[in-house]
Amino acid sequence: MNRLRTLTEPFKIKMVEPLKLTTEEYRHNALKTAGYNPFLLNSDDVFIDLLTDSGTGAMSDRQWAGIMSGDESYAGARSWRHLESVVKELTGMPYILPTHQGRAAEKILYTLLGGKGKVFLSNTHFDTTRANIEYSGAMALDLMPPESRDPQVDLPFKGNIDLEQLVQQITTHGKENIAAVIMTVTNNSAGGQPVSMENMKVVRNICDQYGLLMVIDGCRVAENSYFVKHREPGFENSSYENIAKEMLALGDAFIMSAKKDGLVNIGGLLTLRNEDLAMKCKNLLIISEGFTTYGGLAGRDMEALAIGLKEVFDDDYLHYRIRSTAYLGEHLKNKGIPVVWPIGGHAVYVDAAKLYPNIPVDQFPGQRLVCDLYQKGGIRCVEVGSLMFGKTDDAGKLIPAAAELVRLAIPRRVYTQSHIDYVLDVFDDILELRTQSKGFRIVYEPPFLRHFTALLETVS
Ligand code: F0G
Repeated sequence: MNRLRTLTEPFKIKMVEPLKLTTEEYRHNALKTAGYNPFLLNSDDVFIDLLTDSGTGAMSDRQWAGIMSGDESYAGARSWRHLESVVKELTGMPYILPTHQGRAAEKILYTLLGGKGKVFLSNTHFDTTRANIEYSGAMALDLMPPESRDPQVDLPFKGNIDLEQLVQQITTHGKENIAAVIMTVTNNSAGGQPVSMENMKVVRNICDQYGLLMVIDGCRVAENSYFVKHREPGFENSSYENIAKEMLALGDAFIMSAKKDGLVNIGGLLTLRNEDLAMKCKNLLIISEGFTTYGGLAGRDMEALAIGLKEVFDDDYLHYRIRSTAYLGEHLKNKGIPVVWPIGGHAVYVDAAKLYPNIPVDQFPGQRLVCDLYQKGGIRCVEVGSLMFGKTDDAGKLIPAAAELVRLAIPRRVYTQSHIDYVLDVFDDILELRTQSKGFRIVYEPPFLRHFTALLETVS
């Protein structure tokens, strides 16, 4: 299809879900009641929900038809066989295990590979990946090149792993202690930035050289394929699906939270090449998730996922998906909002420390932006800064996170361009009031993952 300059959704709407636009006063009170923590808001009170792109997408009419024809047999269900064949074709791997979501697959694989004394190396471990590895007693090291850590440097593949550091860490810890190399594609915690095929191929060679297992955490592998096709020489004429196949062919194992590029609301996958490891994983799957042909999913979920994994590689869908995220990011940048650059696949990240220079880091400028966006426009998003990753030292002083970012994650096929234009309008209000905004102090925090349940109050 010829691309029009106006970005349009390559779908029409068959079913609608009403949204409630509340008053600013209502939202002010809702925020106060929620302890200035939008995780504690009722979703009915949110107008545009950009908290996550995980499990929040809209399914197609074909997927809903699949829901109706899903086979709910306990063992050997038709829907399982459909899913298995689609995933085998995509990954080229013979052993396919369904799980209820991504972290369940992580729990199984990293329990088996991890343990005290083991080390995992990655471009960046996602939070749940790190948590599962550390819970097993092992260590998780993130190996990003220094230049990719700069939010302003314009590089095509800022999600890559630093290859020199990778070899150095293997030598330092000894190859026998390296449990796996995990490539997160796209690199969520690094701004949804893509990983190049070249980087993946070199990682494969390094893994072969040292006899290491290469795991691909590929919940956004289709979005990554878009960037490879448009930014990496040699892929201009390849289809998105073939690019993903070529990349997944490099891995020994593939983990996927299907709640992203699976285009479903729940689901996960663990796929493997090695029979022995697959058998061990299957045994753990049976005691934690369910039998090997459903693994925590209903037959209808598997049917919808089998269809979603095909739809996600559609040219028009992927173009719209990546360009609509970029549209938000580019327009924010034009307004003078500091954003992490270039714009990644599933989210736009705002540098809140830069936007609110009068709010010190220990008063959480990111959380201020999150709360201002909710109060002004009913928009919900998440702080990825010192509230999420900061620690308190023995003297009660904050050890801040590397950056004070706010993530605006875009659910798939849910909001229209005018919703996104509305978000841009609300940022005009943010620019006007930012110098009057006050920071926060924490009044309650749990011992771990504090951002989910912490309660805050405004600093007077
Ligand atoms: N790996 C990556 C790269 C992820 O982004 C996520 C989830 C997971 C694993 C875990 O999958 O949620 O299905 O258990 N990311 C979500 C997010 C939660 O908001 O970015 P899950």
